[in-house]
Amino acid sequence: MPIHVRATPGDYAGACLLPGDPLRARYIAETFFDDVVQRNGERGMLGYSGTFNGKPVSVQSSGMGCPSAAIVIEELVQLGVEKIMRVGTCGGLQPDMTMGDLVIALSATAADATSTHYVLGEPHAPTADFGLVHEAVHQAKHLGKPVRVGPIVSSDIFYQPDPDQARRWSERGILAVEMEAAVLFTLGALRGIQAGCMLIVSDVIVEGEFLRISDEDMRKAVDEMTELALHVVTA
Ligand code: HPA
Repeated sequence: MPIHVRATPGDYAGACLLPGDPLRARYIAETFFDDVVQRNGERGMLGYSGTFNGKPVSVQSSGMGCPSAAIVIEELVQLGVEKIMRVGTCGGLQPDMTMGDLVIALSATAADATSTHYVLGEPHAPTADFGLVHEAVHQAKHLGKPVRVGPIVSSDIFYQPDPDQARRWSERGILAVEMEAAVLFTLGALRGIQAGCMLIVSDVIVEGEFLRISDEDMRKAVDEMTELALHVVTA
């Protein structure tokens, strides 16, 4: 039994959503799953299994940041999970972005130390699984839901010390900043599982300032993304 995700092989479905927030994991299970069973509560890192449209699926919180996410992802792999879709929030970096926009990540620049340690400091491009990206884009189109598909960046730091950092990422075409996808994609490659990431823009970073979306609008956008993600991982 893994140390942090206190479950045994078979407790988690092959497909698992990975929000950062434990309470969002609980909300997803209670709102979208049938036949819900809690599978983890260790350190408050809530995890659940159930079904979505009759198909087995799980949800597990990753915590914030790549070190926490890496522990959880490694242990989900030990438990037999083969497909992980991060569902989270991000800071929008492009000037035409609006709070509530949906981003599907193609790649995640590793502006974190964990992903870099995993590849022993060698250059590596953390990349999402094409099958998951393709399915997500296809299903979003089918629902008439606009999406932004492109590169994101995973940072170790929420409150950047350099007020110009967001501008430089933006000029390189990076759509959004978050804190977990680079290690998810790196471990997807190293452990041979499918990894993807869908994000709702929760704040737009303009000249170092955070503009925020209301809690109600945020919940609606995240709900729509979650439903889409569940269709994608159970397709
Ligand atoms: N930075 C990093 N992670 C985030 C942000 C952000 O602005 N917003 C949501 N997750």
